[in-house]
Amino acid sequence: MNIKSANELFVRLLSEANSGEKQMTRALPKMARAAHDPKLVDAFKEHLEETQGQLERIEKAADSIPEIRVKRIKCYAMESLIEEGQELIESTEKGPVRDAGMIGAAQKVEHFEIAAYGTLCELAEQLGYTKAKEILAETLKEEKAADDKLSKLAKADVNRKAG
Ligand SMILES: [Fe+2]
Ligand SMILES: [Fe+2]
Repeated sequence: MNIKSANELFVRLLSEANSGEKQMTRALPKMARAAHDPKLVDAFKEHLEETQGQLERIEKAADSIPEIRVKRIKCYAMESLIEEGQELIESTEKGPVRDAGMIGAAQKVEHFEIAAYGTLCELAEQLGYTKAKEILAETLKEEKAADDKLSKLAKADVNRKAG
């Protein structure tokens, strides 16, 4: 029981987010290669760039609070979500059906990140980490936009072709 305060909880969750984003910088290039629809390939590539920026934001958010430091821990939830997506890729052929499945898998990741950053923003607010909150809120917005984009892609092309 080494988490006794909201501040320690914040550090823990920020460190998990850092691990999750790092894992996604490795997963997204594989997802882009496995996707078939060029719009989906682009969406994954674009989110890879955003994810690299999100990692930098975590560093900036941590730097804005002198008394904290990001820890090296693993986000097991993200690891499982990525593994599930990888299994889906392995059990499908490249094409519309795999694309539809990958959109679903990617949206699970985005929803998970939306929950994680939502909590981080709330905690940062409570703790008076105003700058960190502002920085993390930008990422939260980006994750929501990524999720919307995937929903639109699913509706517009991919799921229709998979049908
Ligand atoms: Fe992210
Ligand atoms: Fe994301």
